[in-house]
Amino acid sequence: MPDEGKNIRLAARKSVLSRCVAWMRDYMKSYYNEDAEIQKAMLLKEAHTTRVQNIIRELAIHLQLSEEDVALAELMGLLHDVGRFRQFTVYRTFKDHLSEDHATAGLKLMEEHRLLKGLLPWEASLVCFAIEWHNKKAIAPAPDACHLGFAKMLRDADKLDIYHVLEPFLPSADGSGVSPNFIEKFVEGVQCDYTMVGTEDDKKLVRLMWAYDIYFAWTLRRIVEHGYLEKLIRCLPKGEKVELGVARLRGYVENKLKEQDDIGFGSSHECENMGEM
Ligand SMILES: [Fe+2]
Repeated sequence: MPDEGKNIRLAARKSVLSRCVAWMRDYMKSYYNEDAEIQKAMLLKEAHTTRVQNIIRELAIHLQLSEEDVALAELMGLLHDVGRFRQFTVYRTFKDHLSEDHATAGLKLMEEHRLLKGLLPWEASLVCFAIEWHNKKAIAPAPDACHLGFAKMLRDADKLDIYHVLEPFLPSADGSGVSPNFIEKFVEGVQCDYTMVGTEDDKKLVRLMWAYDIYFAWTLRRIVEHGYLEKLIRCLPKGEKVELGVARLRGYVENKLKEQDDIGFGSSHECENMGEM
């Protein structure tokens, strides 16, 4: 695409981003509540939103994306949890399986408020795809490398911050150890089903195994540097299978950190001919 066209898209994306930043600020404040439990949850998600926007920007720059693609990534970070505010206020939980899928609810809200107005359909499609799949067990088959790449970035940025958010809430052992099906999965290095969590130690395994779902060495390096994994490992119950799972995880992390990060596409314009979605 000629430079002039790229400059137009850069200006358009930046304008959508700044409009959405202002909109989100007001939207999040509109959920402030006298109920202390709700207010705490709102402030938690507000801070998470800002941090994920910053993390994904840093990650996009690390991956050498263009300025206009960095703006698109930031927009994804900013809007990814827009569905959380109403979810907690109505259901008093962030658990999707006990309330509603917050990604789907967020996309609906984005449409109702026409938040992506000003983006071309293929640009909006990239944002919506990444948000739709940021909270699922895995990303659905993506239409192209651009959709997949942005979705990976958002999932990584979100997980890195979730490790930060959950750090003070280290589950204390309840004496019941880990559930047999969880420990087997841990040894195999396969993520467990979150909805099957039975004990406090199961929660630690789920958190530890998020490491297997991190796409970029950049993100994993930050997780390791903060000590998020080792802090969890130190609190695991002792046992042969736990040790096997930990050894597998440490080996995986060591190898992953040696990888050279590659987003898998050069510019989001590679998908601009995908037509109307
Ligand atoms: Fe989310």
